[in-house]
Amino acid sequence: MNDFKDKVAVITGGASGIGLAVARALGAAGAKLVLADIEQPALDAAVEGLERAGAATTGLLTDVSSREAVDALAAHAWDTFGAVDIVMNNAGVAVFGATQEMTHDDWKWSIDVNLWGCIHGVESFVPRMIAQGRGGHVLFTASFAGLVPNRELGPYNVTKAAVVALAESLRKDVREHGIGVSVLCPMRVVSNIDFSSRNRPQALGGPTANRTYTDEERAALGGRLLEVEPVAELVLDAIRRNALYIHTHSEAAEFFGKRAARISAAFADAL
Ligand SMILES: NC(=O)c1ccc[n+]([C@@H]2O[C@H](COP(=O)([O-])OP(=O)(O)OC[C@H]3O[C@@H](n4cnc5c(N)ncnc54)[C@H](O)[C@@H]3O)[C@@H](O)[C@H]2O)c1
Repeated sequence: MNDFKDKVAVITGGASGIGLAVARALGAAGAKLVLADIEQPALDAAVEGLERAGAATTGLLTDVSSREAVDALAAHAWDTFGAVDIVMNNAGVAVFGATQEMTHDDWKWSIDVNLWGCIHGVESFVPRMIAQGRGGHVLFTASFAGLVPNRELGPYNVTKAAVVALAESLRKDVREHGIGVSVLCPMRVVSNIDFSSRNRPQALGGPTANRTYTDEERAALGGRLLEVEPVAELVLDAIRRNALYIHTHSEAAEFFGKRAARISAAFADAL
């Protein structure tokens, strides 16, 4: 897809951080926008800002962990703009702490939002995009943690590895329909992800159930802290090139190389 003018883009988690930056970049390139988010005030502010910048935008309060809600989002997108060309399954949350100390609700919330949210995006949008017969592009925001697991982020690592696999699987299966697939794998980017417990439902422990990194822990994390705008430009470029993997941090290559070497070396003991 080379031209974003009048293309319709749906972005989950579009009211903040990476999703909002991609919305701004696509809007500036002429796309019509459908933002989905679980935070109504942030969503209203995002929609207003994008419209002020000249992008035709609609927002829908959506909890991506609900299949019905994502179905309603798809219906809203097609009702509003008559087509969908780009879907970015981007909403995500993080729970910090040792894997063995994670509560059942920590696992459930992480999987519901990060993995089921992406699966719902496939279920609700992709068959309709195929039926629509005009190609398109599906994006997933995973994380570098989906390629190399981080310490003290077990449920997050698990969901993001699964999202990488989902993108890789879908890409093979929709190629013949002219639909491209990309997966974004960032290390740290300036956003509100460290405060994602603000959206944790009461039924799964509520906002106070999450531990957040201490300042010292955050300072000890590897890799640069990138701004969202250049990351958004990488996303648009990947859609144009139909690139599968979108890496944001060149320094991440070393860590991935070490993991790949460790896996490879273990084959020396295989039968
Ligand atoms: N910021 C980073 O360093 C980083 C690194 C790697 C991956 N990511 C991933 O990027 C994606 C975007 O996160 P971000 O960093 O911009 O954080 P963010 O908190 O700024 O944005 C995430 C958005 O998702 C929304 N959201 C949360 N739960 C939702 C739900 N159930 N349904 C719908 N919307 C929901 C939030 O309200 C928020 O607007 C996430 O998938 C995250 O895991 C972020």
